[in-house]
Amino acid sequence: MADFDYDVLVIGAGPGGYVAAIRAAQLGLKTACAESRETLGGTCLNVGCIPSKALLHASELYEEATAGHLAKFGIELDGARLNLEQMMAEKSKAVGELTGGIEFLFKKNKVDWLKGHARFTGQHSVEVGGKTVTAKDIVIATGSSVMPLPGVEVDNDKGIVVDSTGALKLPKVPGKMVVIGGGVIGLELGSVWRRLGAEVTVVEYLPQILPGMDEEIRKEANKVFKKQGFKYKLGTKVTGCEVKGDKAILSMEPAKGGETETMEVDAVLVSIGRKANTDGLGLEAIGLATNERGQIETDHDFATGVEGVWAIGDVVPGPMLAHKAEDEGIAVAENIAGEVGIVNHDLIPSVVYTMPEIAGVGLTEEQAKEAGHEVKVGKFPFMANSRAKTNRDTDGLVKVIADAKSDRVLGVWMISSLAGTMIAQVTQAMEFGATSEDIAYTCHAHPTHSEAVKEAAMAVQGKPIHI
Ligand code: FAD
Ligand code: NAI
Repeated sequence: MADFDYDVLVIGAGPGGYVAAIRAAQLGLKTACAESRETLGGTCLNVGCIPSKALLHASELYEEATAGHLAKFGIELDGARLNLEQMMAEKSKAVGELTGGIEFLFKKNKVDWLKGHARFTGQHSVEVGGKTVTAKDIVIATGSSVMPLPGVEVDNDKGIVVDSTGALKLPKVPGKMVVIGGGVIGLELGSVWRRLGAEVTVVEYLPQILPGMDEEIRKEANKVFKKQGFKYKLGTKVTGCEVKGDKAILSMEPAKGGETETMEVDAVLVSIGRKANTDGLGLEAIGLATNERGQIETDHDFATGVEGVWAIGDVVPGPMLAHKAEDEGIAVAENIAGEVGIVNHDLIPSVVYTMPEIAGVGLTEEQAKEAGHEVKVGKFPFMANSRAKTNRDTDGLVKVIADAKSDRVLGVWMISSLAGTMIAQVTQAMEFGATSEDIAYTCHAHPTHSEAVKEAAMAVQGKPIHI
């Protein structure tokens, strides 16, 4: 290995890259990680999962304290008020603790952090921070960034037309806010500002919110958010946005064409998806092309077409999720070290951290049918779950989709305050090839929301107890 500065060089210190670097070091490989941000942790820790969840948690507490929901439990609060600056400070503190934690883990595992933007100069060499560094294996984990919308110019500093990064630090609660894109970011960050007092309208190109999820769950989620006060303009496309003073004037028209309408609002969040980061990476220097979506293709081991160059996380095809990137980070390091690193891409759970949460794993009912399965579906509403009823937390349901012949579980979808936690049990069951009967005959603690998973599994055979 004397010919190279490092055994492994990872480009990007997001959940894919930092995990790959730590695992490679744990496996005895001399490892460095290049990162151009001031802090480690990538999109997820700095401007993604963590700050958004900090604001979701805080805004939920605020809504509990102010919307009168607590009175029925005998808790009467007067004079609760918002200190947005403090809410933001607490969010930044959590981000600082977690990004600092990665720095600590790098030191502990002897991973060198190379500060700066990395660019390939050859198959085994990159230029970073004004120096050329060589490595036997290089992992591209450069992640993704916000997809721009033509005609809508984002200016996060002004705080009127923002992307997700700007929506995590609005200086004041907007009176009226439009969220362009009824996907995960739009609903999570839309929920934050709605809870803090904004009137939020979701403008979505498709006829329904949350594309990619089970159709029935999408419809139910739509109803739940409507009840919370979200307004929708579905099947609508934004065609332009003009900022006048402290207002934004949006132009939009039906997706299928029709009359243009305008809407004056105080804030606009552009959340129409994300795109892979490969600009300025020097891929041409190693002859590595991207696909039509700008992503880097890999094989099952995360190897690209160029020997010794690997890629993981948001920069490769697949769901843009932190846990998927992390698992790929572990697997790629194991493959580089000569072990067998595998990720089961059929079982990547997805969670929307609204209240209630929306979670799913495996196939939707529509996908299962398209794949040729004859399906049996079992459902159980939280309205009939004793713990949810007691907590006055009855929005949502669990839906188990099983193959009618083998009874093997093909997918599970749910809406519940605890869906993000409960999806782990079914993911694990499915990883072990569970049938709905396996879940139905597993003892679940009482009284818990998880009993709804058991009952939905029992419902696949038409025999739930409590409905
Ligand atoms: P990233 O986290 O994007 O990290 C890539 C890093 O590489 C960045 O730090 C970048 O600065 C660096 N980089 C890029 N190019 C170079 C270069 N040439 N040289 C040096 N460094 C470079 N996912 C979830 O699973 N759960 C959530 O709750 C969730 N919430 C989210 C909320 C928001 C608002 C957003 C925007 C995203 C959220 N995501 C969530 C998605 C999640 O953040 C990403 O899937 C995840 O961060 C991808 O990890 P990654 O390592 O592939 O890339
Ligand atoms: P998304 O793909 O979830 O949703 C984008 C939405 O915008 C879609 O519904 C799409 O139909 C719509 N859209 C696209 N173009 C449009 C247009 N011109 N006008 C109106 N609507 C339009 O993307 P989002 O919300 O930006 O999130 C990006 C990524 O970040 C996602 O892939 C997601 O996986 C990840 N993320 C994950 C979270 C989680 O796991 N809880 C939280 C936040 C983000």
